[in-house]
Amino acid sequence: MVEQLRISGGAPLRGVVNLSGSKNAALSVLAGALLTEEPCLLHNVPPIKDVVTMLQVLRSIGVEVSVGDHNAIHLDASGLNTSPPPYDLVKQMRASFYVAGPLLGRLGKAKVPLPGGCVIGSRPVDFHINAFRKLGANVNVEHGFMVAECHRLQATEIYLDPRWCSVGATVNAMMAAALAKGHTVIQNPAREPEVLNFASFLNAMGAQVEGAGSKQVTVQGVERLHGCEFTVLSDRIEAGTYLFAGAMTGGDVTVEPINPTDLEFVLCKLDEAGLEIETEDNSIRVSSDRGFRAVDVATAPFPGFPTDLQPLILTLMCISEGRSVIQETIYDGRLHYVDELRRMGANVTVVNQTAVVRGVPSLSAAPVDSPDLRAGAALVVAGLAAEGDTEISGIQVIDRGYHRLEDKIAQLGGTIARFDTNGNKVNPCSDWQEILASI
Ligand code: EPZ
Repeated sequence: MVEQLRISGGAPLRGVVNLSGSKNAALSVLAGALLTEEPCLLHNVPPIKDVVTMLQVLRSIGVEVSVGDHNAIHLDASGLNTSPPPYDLVKQMRASFYVAGPLLGRLGKAKVPLPGGCVIGSRPVDFHINAFRKLGANVNVEHGFMVAECHRLQATEIYLDPRWCSVGATVNAMMAAALAKGHTVIQNPAREPEVLNFASFLNAMGAQVEGAGSKQVTVQGVERLHGCEFTVLSDRIEAGTYLFAGAMTGGDVTVEPINPTDLEFVLCKLDEAGLEIETEDNSIRVSSDRGFRAVDVATAPFPGFPTDLQPLILTLMCISEGRSVIQETIYDGRLHYVDELRRMGANVTVVNQTAVVRGVPSLSAAPVDSPDLRAGAALVVAGLAAEGDTEISGIQVIDRGYHRLEDKIAQLGGTIARFDTNGNKVNPCSDWQEILASI
């Protein structure tokens, strides 16, 4: 059933948001659990579409998935097999390719569909494949599959491209190296907080990963890994989304639990724009009671400005006092959503992957379509700030990454609801038992 969100904008958002688990940390941890034949118990895994897709991928290769107490996800990969996961699942969610590293490391064979591109840009996996080859695997690309084989991976030095510091390639290389023979060094790894959380998970399983968060990660291979109980960290991109919503509506929003250093550069930019920021050990508060200045941003790998919040800061700049230049340097197609903002009265010019935003006094409500996950979130924020009623279609892409979006916004005083095409109000299911029973 196609659904849409209806938002009545104009009210300042005020209050505290309790963050869900990180989508991007959870996806790597779920794949990492394949590295052991012992069970893993994972807490704070968000019941969002991408995570559900990953659980379907895991089940398709022999992993038993169930829900324990307090919505903990129980994984048993003792029956892991090398049958290729279905292409229709992998093409839905690129992180499905994360199963390649553990399959190769633990079973010596991985046949995985290539994920292909997505709406935000071409997204090859050549860095992943090169890492597997460097570790000694024989890798071929045939009929849309990556086919990799190696009896026992051998430690090596892997150089990731410092231009990208690929998150996915870092995660896959760490998993493959965890069971390789010897001491692997990964140069120019991703330093995102989600990668640090993932390294902690691998070490909880008995891996020997050091240097996560620095410019060099080392992995001392071990013979086998054991099961563990682990908690996924909270979602910093969800946190940023609600902070931008508070800023754009002239409100006062606190997000927790979150380590402020996980959004350090984002907070620098909000401070530069003149917003009020307060941080505690485990929370961030942003308030705005007046106009704010335009700032320039170029996305970059962590600790730079995260590409996943580029749509949010560009949308904020649409009602800033001045002119802002926003450069998207990570993806070659992550500015398409600007056409939807223009429908709401935004003044934005895009040349290649650079947007020039001239602030206008306010946006106006309009029917818009959500092209991708983070752009959809930005359109929700735009609708909350715009005078009038905004209807957002294509919201299934938003459900990929946000848990209880409407509830959390309503708790902040926003007016938002989900309707199906018959005009009936809908509340998405977020109970793990029901979700797992339905897939
Ligand atoms: C992760 O994607 C995140 N997804 C993305 O979040 C995030 O935008 C991205 O990292 C950058 O931070 C997950 O963690 C599940 P990359 P990933 O490998 O790993 C190019 C969201 O909205 N590249 O760091 O796929 C690639 O095309 C999603 O939550 C290659 O060329 O990103 C891109 O231009 C969107 N070859 C750049 O590197 C490769 O083999 C960065 O990609 C791999 C990547």
